[in-house]
Amino acid sequence: MTERANYPEGGATWESLKSQMDAMRTDDIDWKNGRAPLYVFHNDAATLDIGKRAYMEYFSENALGRKRAFLSVQKMEQDVLDFGLSLFNAPSNGHGVFTSGGSESILLAMKAARDVWRAAHPGAENRLNLVMPISAHPAFDKACSLMDIEIRRAPLNPDCRVDINAIAEEVDDNTMAIVGSAPCFPHGVFDDISALSDLAVSKGLWLHVDACVGGWLAPFFARNGRPTPDFDFRFHGVRSISADLHKFGFCPKPASTVFFRNADDHEKAVFVADQWPSGRFETSTLVGTRPAGSVASAWAVLNHLGSKGYSDVADRLGKMVDRYVAEIKKIDGLRMVAQPELTIINFTSDEVDMGLVADEMKARGWLPGMTRHPKGLHIMLSMFHAPALESYIADLQQAVESARSNTAGKAQSEAVY
Ligand SMILES: Cc1ncc(COP(=O)(O)O)c(C=O)c1O
Repeated sequence: MTERANYPEGGATWESLKSQMDAMRTDDIDWKNGRAPLYVFHNDAATLDIGKRAYMEYFSENALGRKRAFLSVQKMEQDVLDFGLSLFNAPSNGHGVFTSGGSESILLAMKAARDVWRAAHPGAENRLNLVMPISAHPAFDKACSLMDIEIRRAPLNPDCRVDINAIAEEVDDNTMAIVGSAPCFPHGVFDDISALSDLAVSKGLWLHVDACVGGWLAPFFARNGRPTPDFDFRFHGVRSISADLHKFGFCPKPASTVFFRNADDHEKAVFVADQWPSGRFETSTLVGTRPAGSVASAWAVLNHLGSKGYSDVADRLGKMVDRYVAEIKKIDGLRMVAQPELTIINFTSDEVDMGLVADEMKARGWLPGMTRHPKGLHIMLSMFHAPALESYIADLQQAVESARSNTAGKAQSEAVY
């Protein structure tokens, strides 16, 4: 058992707190130099600075009170949601919600899907189910666990996209929604949203597209002419989309969005309670109090970058992804699991134990991101990784050689998220 920290007497100065923080973080991963494969996303110093400044401007305000007390926060939030509605080609009746992260966005979409299903099936008592690719994010498991919904997982095709027939086979009368990822976290490829949409339309199903990881950036990859699949409301079966600002939108955490094709669907995600002494309480989010700094900084970053800035970072990121892929392919024994469609790379080996490779990378100061099936390494590349490319590849080359010669070795590293 770890020793419990004593409750402080207080009086610590900022200087002392700062020096304690500096001392504590010496063992943290060196993310600024590209040694973390996930958790932190970066474009450039100017975007970071704008995000921080805007966040600090609204450090104390509370977005819960945006409609009554902080109208500026309401205006900025609506602007951000409007930007997303047009980016994702939502119809005029579309509606967005600003949330704290992908998990909350997904939870709200699932609640809306469940309640729309229930409203359409009065009196139905069977347990509902959600049908999704095996590669869909565990945020769906969390949402469904909270709402007592069964999860049915469909396998992937060899190209790592979900098998549409397998999705169709899992669907039954109690299916409240199906899911496609754009792209999926493990392998970095887009499910075939067009085919999922056709299935949704033909069976009258709710299709949720999880574009959490790259939704705010993928359209600019496409606009730059990189082959990037479409995934948005232009497909008629797409009923809701989750897209995180705090990942490849390069906005400060916590910030995500969820969009609904119809404002009526969104109504089902709204929570209302009206039976306590303080009057009606209504939120579109899971959380109550929430940081206005997130809203202000997302608004500032989006206005700062705009279509020019996102196209520019998409261009730089795309070129960097290509360089990583080319260098990894040159290493004897490694192969890509899939051709990356955005910024996530996942590679494996048929010759060496990737767990041992991960151990070797860890020993060289890299936090190894891993997948289980197939056993491989995984990185969400953002601009922190550009200057790290040469040292990463040199270490990876050595790590593969060491793993190859370590025939009796037992890997310590395993896929954890
Ligand atoms: C595809 C996808 N969906 C959902 C999430 C969950 O997002 P969050 O960690 O912001 O809750 C992630 C996080 O990486 C993701 O990659």
